[in-house]
Amino acid sequence: MTPLPDTAPDITVTTLLADTSQRTLADDVLAGLSASPKTLPPKHFYDSVGAELFDQICDLPEYYPTRAEREILVTQSAQIAQLTGATELVELGAGSADKTRVLLTALSEAGTLDTYVPMDVAEQQLRQVCEAIADEYPGLKVHGVAGDFLRHMDAVPASEGPRIVALLGGTVGNFIGADRADLLAGISAALRPTDYLLLGTDLVKDRAPLEAAYDDSQGVTAAFNRNVLQVINRELDADFDLNSFEHIALYNEQEEQIEMRLRSTLAQEVTIKNLSALRVVFEAGEEILTEVSAKFTPERLEQDLAGAGLELAWFETDSAGQFALSLSHPQLSP
Ligand code: SAH
Ligand code: AVI
Repeated sequence: MTPLPDTAPDITVTTLLADTSQRTLADDVLAGLSASPKTLPPKHFYDSVGAELFDQICDLPEYYPTRAEREILVTQSAQIAQLTGATELVELGAGSADKTRVLLTALSEAGTLDTYVPMDVAEQQLRQVCEAIADEYPGLKVHGVAGDFLRHMDAVPASEGPRIVALLGGTVGNFIGADRADLLAGISAALRPTDYLLLGTDLVKDRAPLEAAYDDSQGVTAAFNRNVLQVINRELDADFDLNSFEHIALYNEQEEQIEMRLRSTLAQEVTIKNLSALRVVFEAGEEILTEVSAKFTPERLEQDLAGAGLELAWFETDSAGQFALSLSHPQLSP
C-alpha cells in the first residue's frame, strides 16, 4: 500500500457545467449566427485545444500583455499582499494560472493565504490547475469552480477573511456593453467592504503593436480564432470548413478595441445538425465577429468601475506603460 503523504492535498471541484445547457453553446450559436451581422461570444474558444492555443499565444513574441502583466505582478505582488491582507484568492477565468503563482507565492510569504478558488469554463484545464497548485503550495485549500463567471458567481464559496477577486490577462476587455457592466456588477456584489477586485487591463496604444499582437506571424491566433468553428462542428454536429474562413484582427480606434472576425472567403451554406439542421448562409466576404478586446485609458477604467459601485484604490503599469493592474473596492455608502 502506498502511504498517504503527511498532508493530503485539500482539493474540491464544483462543476456547474455538467448539464450542457449551462454551457449555452447551442443558444449562443443560434442567436449569434441568426443575427446580422453574425457574432459568437468568446467563451466558446476555450475547449482543450483552444485553451492550449491560448497558452501558446501567451508565449508569442508579438503578444505583449502576458509578459507586461507578469512584470507588474513580479514587482508589485508583495505590495498587493500588504494592501489587501487577503486570506483568499478567487480567480475568474484562471486559465493555466501561470502568472497567478507569483501572487500566490507573495500571499503565502505574507503569511495570510489560506484558500485559492479558481473559476473557469475550461473544466479539464481547471482540474489540472487545481491538482498542480495544491501540490506546489502544501497546506493551501484549493476549491475549483467549473462555471461561467457571468452566470455562476453564486457558486463561489463564502469566505471568512479578506479576499481578492482577480480577473487577469485583460479578460474584462473581452466583454462589451451590458455584458461588461453585468460582469463588474456581479463581482461588485460578491465583494464585502474588506475585499478587493484585482483587475488586469490592456491599455490604449498605437495600432501597429496591437494588430501584430492579434495577428501573429506564426498564425497561432488565426488557429485560435478558427478553433471556435471546430468546437461548433464537434459539439453541435455542424459542417464548417475551417479553410474557407480567414482570420481578421483590426483595431477600431474610435471604440478603442481590437475586433477579431472570421471572414468567409466564398459564398457557402453551413448546416448545424443539432440545431434542428439550421442552415446558415454566408455571402462571399461575410464576417462573424468572434471577439472584441477592449483597450483602456485610466479614465475609461474608472468609469466602468464606478458604474459597478467600485472605487479605484491602487493602479500600476509595467515599465513600458503597455498594461495596467488595479485594485478597487466597494464604494463606501455616503
Ligand atoms: N487569466 C489567464 C487566462 C486568460 S484567457 C491569463 O491571464 O492568462 C481567458 C480565460 O477565461 C480562459 O481560460 C477562458 O476559459 C475563461 N473564460 C472566458 N469566458 C468565461 C466565462 N464566461 N466564465 C468563466 N471563464 C471564462
Ligand atoms: C483572454 N483575452 C484577454 C485575450 C485577449 O487578448 O483579448 C484573448 C485573445 N484573443 C486573441 N489573442 C488573445
